[in-house]
Amino acid sequence: MFGPGLLVAVVALASPVFGQTAWQPNQVNTRICQWLQFGAAVLRDTVYLNGGDLWWEPGFADGSTGPAVTDNNRLGVIYTLNFSTPFNTTQNISAILGTLATGGGDANNRAPNYVDGALLGNDNEFFVYGGLPQKSDAFTPPPGHSVLAYNKYQYGAPKPGFTSYFYNKDLGPNVTRYVAYGGAASAPSENLAWYFSGLRSPSGGEIYYPGTGNATTTASNVSSTLITLDMATQLQETFTNDTLPQAIPGRADPELVWVPVGSKGILVVLGGVVYPDFSERSQTSANQTASELQSPSFMSTIDIYDVASRKWYTQKTTGGPGQRTRGCAVVARAQDGSSFNIYYYGGYDGLHQDQPFSDEVWVLSLPSFTWVLLANSTVEGRAGHKCVAPYPDQMMVIGGYPHPQGLVTSCLTETIRVFNLSAGTWLDRYDPAIYSNYTVPSAVHEKIGGSGTGGATATTPSPSGFDSTELAKVFATPYPVTKIATYYPYPSVGPVNNTNPNVGPTPSAPSSGGGGLPSYLPPVLGVVLGLVFFTMVAVLILLWRRRRLLRAGTASEVGTEYTTPSRAFIKWWLRGQPAQPAQPSEAKAPTVTSSDYTPASSAEPDTLAVAPRPIAEMMDTGVPLPVELPAGNQIFLLPLSESHLPPKPPSSPCSSPR
Ligand SMILES: *[C@@H]1O[C@H](CO)[C@@H](O)[C@H](O)[C@H]1NC(C)=O
Ligand SMILES: *[C@@H]1O[C@H](CO)[C@@H](O)[C@H](O)[C@H]1NC(C)=O
Ligand SMILES: *[C@@H]1O[C@H](CO)[C@@H](O)[C@H](O)[C@H]1NC(C)=O
Ligand SMILES: *[C@@H]1O[C@H](CO)[C@@H](O)[C@H](O)[C@H]1NC(C)=O
Ligand SMILES: *[C@@H]1O[C@H](CO)[C@@H](O)[C@H](O)[C@H]1NC(C)=O
Ligand SMILES: *[C@@H]1O[C@H](CO)[C@@H](O)[C@H](O)[C@H]1NC(C)=O
Ligand SMILES: *[C@@H]1O[C@H](CO)[C@@H](O)[C@H](O)[C@H]1NC(C)=O
Ligand SMILES: *[C@@H]1O[C@H](CO)[C@@H](O)[C@H](O)[C@H]1NC(C)=O
Ligand SMILES: *[C@@H]1O[C@H](CO)[C@@H](O)[C@H](O)[C@H]1NC(C)=O
Ligand SMILES: *[C@@H]1O[C@H](CO)[C@@H](O)[C@H](O)[C@H]1NC(C)=O
Ligand SMILES: *[C@@H]1O[C@H](CO)[C@@H](O)[C@H](O)[C@H]1NC(C)=O
Ligand SMILES: *[C@@H]1O[C@H](CO)[C@@H](O)[C@H](O)[C@H]1NC(C)=O
Repeated sequence: MFGPGLLVAVVALASPVFGQTAWQPNQVNTRICQWLQFGAAVLRDTVYLNGGDLWWEPGFADGSTGPAVTDNNRLGVIYTLNFSTPFNTTQNISAILGTLATGGGDANNRAPNYVDGALLGNDNEFFVYGGLPQKSDAFTPPPGHSVLAYNKYQYGAPKPGFTSYFYNKDLGPNVTRYVAYGGAASAPSENLAWYFSGLRSPSGGEIYYPGTGNATTTASNVSSTLITLDMATQLQETFTNDTLPQAIPGRADPELVWVPVGSKGILVVLGGVVYPDFSERSQTSANQTASELQSPSFMSTIDIYDVASRKWYTQKTTGGPGQRTRGCAVVARAQDGSSFNIYYYGGYDGLHQDQPFSDEVWVLSLPSFTWVLLANSTVEGRAGHKCVAPYPDQMMVIGGYPHPQGLVTSCLTETIRVFNLSAGTWLDRYDPAIYSNYTVPSAVHEKIGGSGTGGATATTPSPSGFDSTELAKVFATPYPVTKIATYYPYPSVGPVNNTNPNVGPTPSAPSSGGGGLPSYLPPVLGVVLGLVFFTMVAVLILLWRRRRLLRAGTASEVGTEYTTPSRAFIKWWLRGQPAQPAQPSEAKAPTVTSSDYTPASSAEPDTLAVAPRPIAEMMDTGVPLPVELPAGNQIFLLPLSESHLPPKPPSSPCSSPR
């Protein structure tokens, strides 16, 4: 898919935030084609989307689109989606995403792009845990015992002068970040988060995105641990590593959800597979027979972890989706707490990525452990996406990928889908002004009894009850739901309708081969016109002073007086250089080049190179990224390890774990 020419261009050219690769000749826009296996965390009113394998589809002036390209997040940004933003699901979603600079990316080893890792957090902060960085010769990756952390809001003991910032968190003695493909869940009301199982390298050492073909650094062996992050005290968070009991088998890409049942809640593990195709360089399972033998039980016998007692249980169910991985899940609680309905959407069996992915929405209703197929639209199946529930009655499905068809990277038609959890139907838009309380869908309460508002009559698993009396006791203990903070309703900042300004980086960049003005012309013109203007002013002042001085009879001083405007001019000229990022609106500099970006970050190691701004702004004009740190934004406590921009080979399509 990539010619050598494009590889060179990717390294040498501009890096817009949207599709951080070079834009091609006549390219006028770009959109998210697919985005899989990123990490997501909801902090109050915003979901943060980190890493993953993000592909952009270029659009050209004649209306055609080109093959999707991946950028490996060269600028090291975390994308954000504020729940105050309304959108319709067929619009250009890129236009509503914000960005948060980590200070990482291509410039250094602070924050590589992790695929299939997680964001673990509470309402105030998150940690980038696990995942696969791309192997790079330019930088050594961060050490195995430390992870990137982001303190967005402070909590607990007051911290005077607190501002949001990124820092590196040490994991402590018994935990490494060398794990990927695990299931992640957060319980903000308990200040706890977890990373369940996943895959590791045979030695438990460093791991990279598959494709190197080096078995030593490929995540292939099941991890039998549950990592618990305790955020009770901000800045004194702890990671612990508990070995799973024999009865709880490890697996790749399960969904982990926290359910408010029992005194501290429970974790429920849904799906996941062993010997998946996606972790292999060949994209075929290492042992399909074993996978088909063991994996279906991960959806029919559900593993449950009681947070308070730190004990694991299993519970049999009947029916359900069968072998499934890379879906997404959210939990909805009936208004009276009589049922907890876990929605599982999409995914596939982890073996046949050449066949269409699931478009089914399944509900696992607790405590009856009843499976219900709620929707099967077959419009656009996907896998590798994330779901969040901004409102009690709505689920947002973000990103993912359709099943690969041949060599072409297939694109999603809807980057974000919105599902009405109460009605069991897909919506065509999200509007923060429209929401309701959750009601149990009729297809579910037909099976578990009661009505939309609750009153479920099936309170034990059918047909044979709880597999463990202890688990029955856990379900008999209600969770103090008043501990759960909510941040809705969100003020609406929409409607957003002008989403396609169709302005890309100027086609005048010299290597893009387009016509138009050479890129050096605007700055030079600015300087020349400025010079002409100031020369005229200087001459006028000179003439005027000379006239006055001559009248006063002190003409000898004219020479010294005359230099003043000239010095001011030089200062103005230096400040007014179009490449100066502080004044982008005046300057209209032609292209964001790699060299514009890198010196900015290396010259100011304690600040960020990219400030959070609406992406639309950054993209539209191709102005340089702002260097200054706006009040209330992040600092980064790590020193820069390198100041040059390393060439980083983009992953080739045949080696990506899809
Ligand atoms: C989507 O919006 C972004 C930001 O405004 C823009 O850069 C991009 O070109 C747009 N894509 C399309 C297909 O219009
Ligand atoms: C989300 O948008 C709302 C409305 O504009 C704003 O008040 C809030 O601060 C935003 N949240 C974040 C994290 O920026
Ligand atoms: C969604 O937005 C697109 C592009 O702006 C527009 O063509 C379409 O009609 C909109 N759909 C709805 C349901 O508003
Ligand atoms: C690390 O593991 C050892 C052995 O299991 C244990 O004794 C020790 O308490 C653990 N340390 C921490 C900080 O959890
Ligand atoms: C968890 O602890 C075990 C036993 O000490 C260790 O082998 C393993 O590497 C740890 N797992 C992670 C993900 O740190
Ligand atoms: C595989 O990776 C390990 C660890 O980085 C390295 O020591 C080894 O030389 C590599 N093997 C091959 C064949 O490249
Ligand atoms: C790791 O996985 C490989 C390939 O599946 C297997 O050959 C090896 O025995 C496993 N190693 C361990 C320590 O389980
Ligand atoms: C695959 O798994 C099956 C069942 O666990 C086992 O009998 C067989 O030896 C495995 N095959 C390979 C090639 O490892
Ligand atoms: C959902 O629809 C697809 C495509 O028609 C079909 O293959 C699949 O069996 C359906 N799922 C269920 C659970 O009926
Ligand atoms: C979801 O469906 C329920 C029941 O039909 C309805 O009351 C509610 O308004 C819907 N929510 C949204 C956001 O459309
Ligand atoms: C949700 O339910 C609560 C309590 O039953 C009620 O006070 C509130 O008005 C409801 N909210 C909506 C949006 O219907
Ligand atoms: C966006 O939609 C609002 C309400 O429908 C309308 O008033 C406004 O003119 C629209 N703006 C643009 C730029 O289309």
